Amino acid sequence: MGVLGVVTALASTTPAGAAASTLGAAAAQSGRYFGTAIAAGHMNDSTYVATWDREFNAVTPENEMKWDATEPNRGQFTFGGADQIVSHAQSHGMKIRGHTLVWHAQIPSWLNNLSTSDLRTAMVNHINGVMGHYKGKIYAWDVVNEAFADGGSVGSLRSSIWTQKLGNGFIEEAFRAARAADPNAKLCYNDYNIDDANANKTRGVYNMVKDFKARGVPIDCVGLQSHFGNPPSNYQQNIAQFAALGVDVQITELDVGGSGSTQADAYRRVVEACTAVPRCAGITVWGITDKYSWRSGDTPLLFDGNFNKKAAYTSVLNALNAATPNPTP
Ligand code: G3I
Repeated sequence: MGVLGVVTALASTTPAGAAASTLGAAAAQSGRYFGTAIAAGHMNDSTYVATWDREFNAVTPENEMKWDATEPNRGQFTFGGADQIVSHAQSHGMKIRGHTLVWHAQIPSWLNNLSTSDLRTAMVNHINGVMGHYKGKIYAWDVVNEAFADGGSVGSLRSSIWTQKLGNGFIEEAFRAARAADPNAKLCYNDYNIDDANANKTRGVYNMVKDFKARGVPIDCVGLQSHFGNPPSNYQQNIAQFAALGVDVQITELDVGGSGSTQADAYRRVVEACTAVPRCAGITVWGITDKYSWRSGDTPLLFDGNFNKKAAYTSVLNALNAATPNPTP
């Protein structure tokens, strides 16, 4: 083998380019993003913001775009905290995920006493108000969040004001309204416990996406929240089965309870599962530091309470750097 042959042989076994040293840059090498949830209330913590800016190229407001924050009184929209996050993200060239438009939780009490037709009007008005305010700025919206029931039969929805007053068709109505409100945003259905390829809850969401695609109801992505103890062994198969329906898959709220090498290994398996599937578009962790996590007792994030990188951080970075470049999903 001549010198050229040796060089070619080496090149074919070495990932293109040098290893990146931050999560966002490493994810970008395979055409993906790596984001974090951000809380506006912590943006006065300079280490928090510096870590966000250095490591992440996408963001999801943790609470600031929810209904109780954006429309606390009927028809009166407030975007203070969300605007703070969005303008910071825009000035740093980050992708922004909108979370979330129609959910049963964190909704204002005025929604509870409306008639069916009034609630329908309020839902569409909310979608128009929030998506309209951010039109053209949002990469993907979690249009409907957590509508499926836990532990039920395949396809059963959680009982909520939405199902009680609008019926099961509220999901489709929300997606149609969302497409009209911002035709350039990707529209996602987002849920937890839909990570196991064979679970009843997963099968229900799978059937809904398949049905939406068949009938031309607009949907572009499925968000796997992925709040883990341990990722299921068929997680990659699950990502692949949703992708095969013609939607992107986004890991939207990743966190893994634990510590040390066990936690690092679980995180590695999640990243490898995503990067093995071309339509797995990116990963968002549900916060930067264990200190501010919604489940801080589980120490589930990539940075400890002092913003030190954990073993899980290194395994995620290495797995992102090892990914084969994919065409941008
Ligand atoms: O803003 C008020 C503050 O004024 C008040 O003093 C304080 C006292 O409790 O509460 C503050 O609101 C809290 C809010 O977070 C902002 O910090 C709520 O009590 C608290 O319930 C809320 O928790 C959020 C939770 O969603 C609510 O459902 C978490 O931060 C947020 O991480 C979590 O995120 C959800 C996703 O949206 C959907 N998937 C599951 C995920 C984890 O539960």
